[in-house]
Amino acid sequence: MSTITRPLDAAPSHLRPFDVRKDLNAVADLVETCFAETLDEDGRRYVGQMRSAARNPGYLRWAMAVAENAPMPFSGYVWEENGYLAGNLSLIPYRYQGKRCYLIANVAVDPAYRRRGIARTLTAKAIEHARKRNTDEIWLHVRAENSAAMNLYQSLDFHERARRSTWEIRPKSVDRNAVHSEIDPDGTKITKPLSEYWDTYRQWLRSQYPPELTWHQSFHLPALRPGFLGGIYRFFTGSHIRQWAARRGKAHTGLLSWQPHSKHADHLWLAASPEDEEAVIAAIFPTALRQLAKRRRMLLDYQAERATESLTALGFHIQQTLIWMRLE
Ligand SMILES: CC(C)(COP(=O)(O)OP(=O)(O)OC[C@H]1O[C@@H](n2cnc3c(N)ncnc32)[C@H](O)[C@@H]1OP(=O)(O)O)[C@@H](O)C(=O)NCCC(=O)NCCS
Repeated sequence: MSTITRPLDAAPSHLRPFDVRKDLNAVADLVETCFAETLDEDGRRYVGQMRSAARNPGYLRWAMAVAENAPMPFSGYVWEENGYLAGNLSLIPYRYQGKRCYLIANVAVDPAYRRRGIARTLTAKAIEHARKRNTDEIWLHVRAENSAAMNLYQSLDFHERARRSTWEIRPKSVDRNAVHSEIDPDGTKITKPLSEYWDTYRQWLRSQYPPELTWHQSFHLPALRPGFLGGIYRFFTGSHIRQWAARRGKAHTGLLSWQPHSKHADHLWLAASPEDEEAVIAAIFPTALRQLAKRRRMLLDYQAERATESLTALGFHIQQTLIWMRLE
Protein backbone atom coordinates (compact mmCIF):
# COMPACT_ATOMS: atom_id res chain seq x y z
CA MET A 1 0.00 0.00 0.00
CA SER A 2 2.82 2.39 0.81
CA THR A 3 4.11 2.07 -2.78
CA ILE A 4 0.68 3.02 -4.07
CA THR A 5 0.35 6.15 -2.01
CA ARG A 6 3.92 7.44 -1.91
CA PRO A 7 4.06 9.21 -5.29
CA LEU A 8 0.52 10.51 -4.92
CA ASP A 9 1.25 12.02 -1.53
CA ALA A 10 4.44 13.57 -2.86
CA ALA A 11 2.85 15.13 -5.92
CA PRO A 12 -0.90 14.68 -6.19
CA SER A 13 -1.21 16.70 -9.37
CA HIS A 14 0.86 14.17 -11.33
CA LEU A 15 -1.96 11.69 -11.78
CA ARG A 16 -4.85 12.94 -13.87
CA PRO A 17 -7.56 11.56 -16.19
CA PHE A 18 -6.56 11.01 -19.79
CA ASP A 19 -7.94 13.76 -22.04
CA VAL A 20 -8.54 12.41 -25.53
CA ARG A 21 -8.54 15.97 -26.98
CA LYS A 22 -4.99 16.76 -25.97
CA ASP A 23 -3.16 13.59 -24.88
CA LEU A 24 -3.45 11.30 -27.91
CA ASN A 25 -0.17 12.28 -29.57
CA ALA A 26 1.81 12.05 -26.35
CA VAL A 27 0.26 8.64 -25.60
CA ALA A 28 1.07 7.46 -29.14
CA ASP A 29 4.73 8.50 -28.56
CA LEU A 30 4.80 6.72 -25.21
CA VAL A 31 3.22 3.52 -26.54
CA GLU A 32 5.68 3.52 -29.45
CA THR A 33 8.64 3.90 -27.08
CA CYS A 34 7.48 1.46 -24.42
CA PHE A 35 6.34 -1.30 -26.78
CA ALA A 36 9.17 -0.81 -29.30
CA GLU A 37 10.37 -4.42 -28.97
CA THR A 38 6.97 -5.99 -29.58
CA LEU A 39 5.29 -3.50 -31.90
CA ASP A 40 4.34 -5.46 -35.02
CA GLU A 41 2.45 -4.39 -38.14
CA ASP A 42 -0.85 -4.20 -36.25
CA GLY A 43 0.72 -2.26 -33.38
CA ARG A 44 2.25 0.29 -35.75
CA ARG A 45 -1.12 0.69 -37.45
CA TYR A 46 -2.72 1.27 -34.03
CA VAL A 47 -0.21 3.99 -33.18
CA GLY A 48 -0.76 5.56 -36.61
CA GLN A 49 -4.52 5.58 -36.00
CA MET A 50 -4.02 7.40 -32.69
CA ARG A 51 -1.98 10.06 -34.46
CA SER A 52 -4.48 10.56 -37.27
CA ALA A 53 -7.35 10.67 -34.73
CA ALA A 54 -5.45 13.42 -32.89
CA ARG A 55 -5.63 15.55 -36.06
CA ASN A 56 -9.38 15.09 -36.53
CA PRO A 57 -11.45 17.50 -34.36
CA GLY A 58 -14.77 15.86 -35.31
CA TYR A 59 -13.49 12.44 -34.26
CA LEU A 60 -12.16 13.84 -30.97
CA ARG A 61 -15.53 15.44 -30.14
CA TRP A 62 -17.23 12.10 -30.79
CA ALA A 63 -14.59 10.25 -28.72
CA MET A 64 -15.20 12.62 -25.78
CA ALA A 65 -18.94 12.02 -25.97
CA VAL A 66 -18.72 8.21 -26.03
CA ALA A 67 -15.64 7.72 -23.83
CA GLU A 68 -17.50 5.97 -20.98
CA ASN A 69 -19.54 3.69 -23.22
CA ALA A 70 -17.77 2.80 -26.46
CA PRO A 71 -15.37 -0.15 -26.33
CA MET A 72 -12.48 2.12 -27.34
CA PRO A 73 -9.46 3.44 -25.42
CA PHE A 74 -10.90 6.95 -24.94
CA SER A 75 -10.65 7.11 -21.17
CA GLY A 76 -8.02 6.26 -18.59
CA TYR A 77 -5.30 7.98 -16.58
CA VAL A 78 -1.94 9.54 -17.30
CA TRP A 79 1.06 10.40 -15.21
CA GLU A 80 2.56 13.82 -15.91
CA GLU A 81 5.74 15.39 -14.61
CA ASN A 82 6.71 18.96 -15.46
CA GLY A 83 4.41 18.89 -18.45
CA TYR A 84 5.82 15.60 -19.77
CA LEU A 85 3.46 12.65 -20.08
CA ALA A 86 5.51 9.82 -18.57
CA GLY A 87 2.84 7.18 -17.96
CA ASN A 88 -0.45 6.03 -19.42
CA LEU A 89 -3.24 3.56 -18.79
CA SER A 90 -6.32 3.18 -21.00
CA LEU A 91 -9.69 1.99 -19.77
CA ILE A 92 -11.90 0.30 -22.34
CA PRO A 93 -15.52 -0.19 -21.24
CA TYR A 94 -17.42 -3.10 -22.80
CA ARG A 95 -20.25 -5.51 -22.14
CA TYR A 96 -20.72 -9.20 -22.65
CA GLN A 97 -23.62 -11.37 -21.59
CA GLY A 98 -25.16 -8.40 -19.78
CA LYS A 99 -22.04 -7.78 -17.66
CA ARG A 100 -20.43 -4.34 -17.45
CA CYS A 101 -16.68 -4.69 -17.74
CA TYR A 102 -13.49 -2.73 -18.24
CA LEU A 103 -10.34 -3.78 -20.01
CA ILE A 104 -7.16 -2.14 -18.77
CA ALA A 105 -4.83 -1.56 -21.73
CA ASN A 106 -1.83 0.46 -22.95
CA VAL A 107 -0.14 0.48 -19.54
CA ALA A 108 3.14 2.18 -20.33
CA VAL A 109 5.74 4.12 -18.36
CA ASP A 110 8.66 5.95 -19.97
CA PRO A 111 11.86 3.92 -19.29
CA ALA A 112 13.45 6.87 -17.46
CA TYR A 113 10.56 6.93 -14.96
CA ARG A 114 10.24 3.24 -14.15
CA ARG A 115 10.34 1.45 -10.76
CA ARG A 116 8.90 4.46 -8.96
CA GLY A 117 5.40 3.06 -8.54
CA ILE A 118 3.84 4.95 -11.48
CA ALA A 119 2.26 1.91 -13.15
CA ARG A 120 1.03 0.67 -9.79
CA THR A 121 -0.56 4.05 -9.07
CA LEU A 122 -2.20 4.18 -12.51
CA THR A 123 -3.56 0.63 -12.18
CA ALA A 124 -4.86 1.19 -8.64
CA LYS A 125 -6.61 4.35 -9.86
CA ALA A 126 -8.15 2.47 -12.80
CA ILE A 127 -9.50 -0.18 -10.41
CA GLU A 128 -11.01 2.55 -8.23
CA HIS A 129 -12.55 4.20 -11.32
CA ALA A 130 -14.15 0.94 -12.42
CA ARG A 131 -15.41 0.03 -8.95
CA LYS A 132 -17.12 3.40 -8.56
CA ARG A 133 -19.09 2.58 -11.69
CA ASN A 134 -20.37 -0.75 -10.37
CA THR A 135 -18.34 -2.76 -12.82
CA ASP A 136 -18.89 -6.50 -12.81
CA GLU A 137 -15.44 -7.49 -14.07
CA ILE A 138 -12.06 -5.87 -14.70
CA TRP A 139 -9.77 -7.62 -17.17
CA LEU A 140 -6.42 -7.06 -18.81
CA HIS A 141 -4.07 -9.05 -20.96
CA VAL A 142 -0.34 -9.25 -20.91
CA ARG A 143 2.23 -10.98 -23.11
CA ALA A 144 3.34 -14.26 -21.56
CA GLU A 145 7.00 -13.17 -21.54
CA ASN A 146 6.33 -9.82 -19.78
CA SER A 147 7.24 -10.83 -16.25
CA ALA A 148 7.56 -7.22 -15.04
CA ALA A 149 3.94 -6.46 -15.88
CA MET A 150 2.80 -9.86 -14.56
CA ASN A 151 4.42 -9.07 -11.19
CA LEU A 152 2.61 -5.76 -11.09
CA TYR A 153 -0.81 -7.20 -11.90
CA GLN A 154 -0.48 -10.21 -9.62
CA SER A 155 0.43 -7.92 -6.74
CA LEU A 156 -2.84 -6.06 -7.36
CA ASP A 157 -4.85 -9.32 -7.24
CA PHE A 158 -5.28 -10.02 -10.94
CA HIS A 159 -5.35 -13.75 -11.66
CA GLU A 160 -4.75 -15.68 -14.84
CA ARG A 161 -8.01 -16.84 -16.45
CA ALA A 162 -6.83 -17.89 -19.90
CA ARG A 163 -3.76 -18.09 -22.13
CA ARG A 164 -4.27 -17.58 -25.85
CA SER A 165 -1.90 -17.71 -28.79
CA THR A 166 -2.40 -15.86 -32.03
CA TRP A 167 -1.07 -18.09 -34.80
CA GLU A 168 -0.27 -16.52 -38.12
CA ILE A 169 0.00 -18.12 -41.54
CA ARG A 170 0.66 -16.73 -44.99
CA PRO A 171 -0.79 -19.36 -47.33
CA LYS A 172 1.45 -18.32 -50.22
CA SER A 173 4.57 -19.16 -48.25
CA VAL A 174 3.42 -22.60 -47.08
CA ASP A 175 5.48 -25.54 -48.28
CA ARG A 176 2.69 -27.90 -49.29
CA ASN A 177 4.99 -30.93 -49.61
CA ALA A 178 6.10 -30.53 -46.02
CA VAL A 179 2.49 -30.24 -44.93
CA HIS A 180 1.61 -33.54 -46.53
CA SER A 181 4.61 -35.58 -45.45
CA GLU A 182 4.95 -34.60 -41.79
CA ILE A 183 1.52 -35.21 -40.40
CA ASP A 184 -0.79 -38.17 -40.12
CA PRO A 185 -4.50 -37.42 -40.13
CA ASP A 186 -5.24 -40.87 -38.72
CA GLY A 187 -8.18 -41.84 -40.92
CA THR A 188 -9.88 -38.48 -40.58
CA LYS A 189 -11.64 -37.24 -43.73
CA ILE A 190 -12.76 -33.82 -44.79
CA THR A 191 -16.38 -33.24 -45.54
CA LYS A 192 -19.03 -30.53 -45.82
CA PRO A 193 -20.29 -29.15 -42.49
CA LEU A 194 -23.87 -30.22 -41.85
CA SER A 195 -26.56 -28.27 -40.04
CA GLU A 196 -27.65 -31.33 -38.06
CA TYR A 197 -24.24 -31.27 -36.29
CA TRP A 198 -24.67 -27.63 -35.23
CA ASP A 199 -25.22 -28.41 -31.53
CA THR A 200 -21.95 -30.32 -31.47
CA TYR A 201 -20.02 -27.68 -33.43
CA ARG A 202 -21.50 -24.95 -31.22
CA GLN A 203 -20.37 -26.72 -28.05
CA TRP A 204 -16.76 -26.94 -29.32
CA LEU A 205 -16.84 -23.35 -30.55
CA ARG A 206 -18.20 -22.03 -27.22
CA SER A 207 -15.51 -23.84 -25.33
CA GLN A 208 -12.67 -22.69 -27.63
CA TYR A 209 -14.04 -19.13 -28.05
CA PRO A 210 -15.87 -18.20 -24.82
CA PRO A 211 -17.61 -14.78 -24.81
CA GLU A 212 -15.29 -13.29 -22.16
CA LEU A 213 -12.34 -13.78 -24.54
CA THR A 214 -13.97 -12.93 -27.87
CA TRP A 215 -16.12 -9.83 -27.22
CA HIS A 216 -13.52 -7.69 -29.03
CA GLN A 217 -13.23 -9.93 -32.08
CA SER A 218 -15.32 -10.48 -35.17
CA PHE A 219 -16.35 -13.84 -33.77
CA HIS A 220 -20.12 -14.28 -34.07
CA LEU A 221 -21.36 -17.76 -33.34
CA PRO A 222 -24.55 -17.58 -35.49
CA ALA A 223 -22.44 -16.66 -38.52
CA LEU A 224 -20.65 -20.02 -38.27
CA ARG A 225 -23.81 -22.10 -38.34
CA PRO A 226 -23.90 -24.20 -41.50
CA GLY A 227 -27.04 -24.44 -43.59
CA PHE A 228 -30.10 -22.30 -44.15
CA LEU A 229 -30.37 -20.55 -40.73
CA GLY A 230 -26.71 -19.59 -40.71
CA GLY A 231 -27.11 -18.50 -44.32
CA ILE A 232 -29.92 -16.11 -43.40
CA TYR A 233 -27.81 -14.63 -40.59
CA ARG A 234 -24.85 -14.18 -42.94
CA PHE A 235 -27.05 -12.61 -45.61
CA PHE A 236 -28.43 -9.97 -43.23
CA THR A 237 -25.10 -9.24 -41.55
CA GLY A 238 -23.13 -9.23 -44.79
CA SER A 239 -20.74 -11.88 -43.48
CA HIS A 240 -19.02 -14.44 -45.60
CA ILE A 241 -17.42 -17.72 -44.54
CA ARG A 242 -15.94 -20.91 -45.93
CA GLN A 243 -16.01 -24.04 -43.85
CA TRP A 244 -14.62 -27.55 -43.68
CA ALA A 245 -15.70 -30.30 -41.31
CA ALA A 246 -13.63 -33.31 -40.26
CA ARG A 247 -15.16 -36.71 -39.72
CA ARG A 248 -13.94 -40.08 -38.53
CA GLY A 249 -16.30 -42.81 -39.62
CA LYS A 250 -19.70 -41.20 -39.46
CA ALA A 251 -18.97 -38.90 -36.53
CA HIS A 252 -17.99 -35.27 -37.11
CA THR A 253 -14.89 -34.42 -35.12
CA GLY A 254 -14.03 -30.83 -36.01
CA LEU A 255 -14.96 -27.65 -37.84
CA LEU A 256 -12.74 -25.02 -39.44
CA SER A 257 -14.14 -21.69 -40.60
CA TRP A 258 -12.39 -19.04 -42.66
CA GLN A 259 -13.78 -15.54 -42.43
CA PRO A 260 -12.45 -12.64 -44.47
CA HIS A 261 -11.92 -9.46 -42.49
CA SER A 262 -12.01 -5.87 -43.64
CA LYS A 263 -8.78 -5.09 -41.81
CA HIS A 264 -5.29 -6.47 -42.20
CA ALA A 265 -5.79 -10.26 -41.92
CA ASP A 266 -8.50 -12.86 -42.34
CA HIS A 267 -9.63 -15.09 -39.47
CA LEU A 268 -9.63 -18.82 -38.93
CA TRP A 269 -11.82 -20.33 -36.23
CA LEU A 270 -11.01 -23.89 -35.30
CA ALA A 271 -13.10 -26.11 -33.06
CA ALA A 272 -12.70 -29.81 -32.47
CA SER A 273 -13.55 -32.51 -30.03
CA PRO A 274 -10.59 -32.49 -27.59
CA GLU A 275 -9.64 -36.14 -28.20
CA ASP A 276 -9.56 -35.67 -31.99
CA GLU A 277 -7.92 -32.25 -32.07
CA GLU A 278 -4.54 -33.33 -33.51
CA ALA A 279 -6.08 -35.55 -36.20
CA VAL A 280 -8.57 -32.82 -37.15
CA ILE A 281 -5.78 -30.27 -37.52
CA ALA A 282 -3.65 -32.66 -39.55
CA ALA A 283 -6.52 -33.44 -41.92
CA ILE A 284 -8.39 -30.18 -42.22
CA PHE A 285 -5.63 -27.63 -42.79
CA PRO A 286 -3.94 -29.16 -45.86
CA THR A 287 -7.31 -29.13 -47.66
CA ALA A 288 -8.31 -25.69 -46.41
CA LEU A 289 -4.91 -24.11 -47.07
CA ARG A 290 -4.87 -25.52 -50.59
CA GLN A 291 -8.24 -23.89 -51.26
CA LEU A 292 -7.15 -20.65 -49.60
CA ALA A 293 -3.74 -20.63 -51.29
CA LYS A 294 -4.26 -17.27 -52.99
CA ARG A 295 -5.60 -15.55 -49.90
CA ARG A 296 -3.73 -13.14 -47.70
CA ARG A 297 -2.37 -13.60 -44.20
CA MET A 298 -4.64 -15.38 -41.73
CA LEU A 299 -4.78 -15.40 -37.95
CA LEU A 300 -5.91 -18.26 -35.76
CA ASP A 301 -6.72 -17.44 -32.15
CA TYR A 302 -6.34 -20.64 -30.15
CA GLN A 303 -5.84 -21.83 -26.61
CA ALA A 304 -2.10 -21.58 -25.88
CA GLU A 305 0.12 -24.65 -25.64
CA ARG A 306 -2.39 -26.78 -27.56
CA ALA A 307 -1.56 -28.53 -30.83
CA THR A 308 1.68 -26.56 -31.02
CA GLU A 309 3.66 -29.15 -32.98
CA SER A 310 0.89 -29.82 -35.50
CA LEU A 311 0.31 -26.13 -36.19
CA THR A 312 4.03 -25.44 -36.50
CA ALA A 313 4.44 -28.36 -38.93
CA LEU A 314 1.71 -26.84 -41.10
CA GLY A 315 3.58 -23.52 -41.41
CA PHE A 316 1.85 -21.54 -38.68
CA HIS A 317 3.92 -19.46 -36.31
CA ILE A 318 2.99 -17.80 -33.05
CA GLN A 319 2.62 -14.05 -33.36
CA GLN A 320 1.97 -13.60 -29.65
CA THR A 321 0.72 -15.40 -26.57
CA LEU A 322 -1.43 -13.36 -24.23
CA ILE A 323 -2.36 -14.12 -20.66
CA TRP A 324 -5.85 -12.90 -19.84
CA MET A 325 -6.11 -11.78 -16.22
CA ARG A 326 -9.15 -10.84 -14.22
CA LEU A 327 -9.29 -8.90 -10.97
CA GLU A 328 -10.58 -11.17 -8.24
C1 LIG B 1 5.47 -2.77 -16.93
C2 LIG B 1 5.63 -1.25 -16.66
C3 LIG B 1 4.33 -0.56 -17.05
C4 LIG B 1 5.90 -1.05 -15.16
O1 LIG B 1 5.95 0.34 -14.90
P1 LIG B 1 6.63 0.93 -13.59
O2 LIG B 1 6.08 2.29 -13.34
O3 LIG B 1 8.09 0.80 -13.68
O4 LIG B 1 6.08 -0.09 -12.48
P2 LIG B 1 6.02 0.18 -10.92
O5 LIG B 1 7.19 1.00 -10.49
O6 LIG B 1 4.67 0.70 -10.57
O7 LIG B 1 6.19 -1.29 -10.34
C5 LIG B 1 5.13 -2.00 -9.78
C6 LIG B 1 5.51 -3.47 -9.64
O8 LIG B 1 5.67 -4.06 -10.91
C7 LIG B 1 6.73 -5.03 -10.87
N1 LIG B 1 7.79 -4.60 -11.77
C8 LIG B 1 7.89 -3.43 -12.45
N2 LIG B 1 9.00 -3.44 -13.23
C9 LIG B 1 9.60 -4.62 -13.03
C10 LIG B 1 10.77 -5.21 -13.54
N3 LIG B 1 11.54 -4.57 -14.43
N4 LIG B 1 11.08 -6.45 -13.16
C11 LIG B 1 10.31 -7.13 -12.27
N5 LIG B 1 9.17 -6.61 -11.73
C12 LIG B 1 8.85 -5.37 -12.09
C13 LIG B 1 7.22 -5.06 -9.45
O9 LIG B 1 6.43 -6.02 -8.77
C14 LIG B 1 6.86 -3.68 -8.98
O10 LIG B 1 6.71 -3.61 -7.59
P3 LIG B 1 8.00 -3.26 -6.68
O11 LIG B 1 8.67 -2.09 -7.31
O12 LIG B 1 7.39 -2.98 -5.34
O13 LIG B 1 8.86 -4.48 -6.73
C15 LIG B 1 6.82 -0.66 -17.46
O14 LIG B 1 7.96 -1.46 -17.23
C16 LIG B 1 6.58 -0.55 -18.94
O15 LIG B 1 6.09 0.47 -19.43
N6 LIG B 1 6.96 -1.60 -19.70
C17 LIG B 1 6.79 -1.61 -21.16
C18 LIG B 1 5.30 -1.65 -21.54
C19 LIG B 1 4.60 -2.82 -20.92
O16 LIG B 1 5.09 -3.94 -20.91
N7 LIG B 1 3.38 -2.58 -20.41
C20 LIG B 1 2.52 -3.60 -19.81
C21 LIG B 1 1.61 -4.13 -20.85
S1 LIG B 1 0.52 -5.32 -20.20
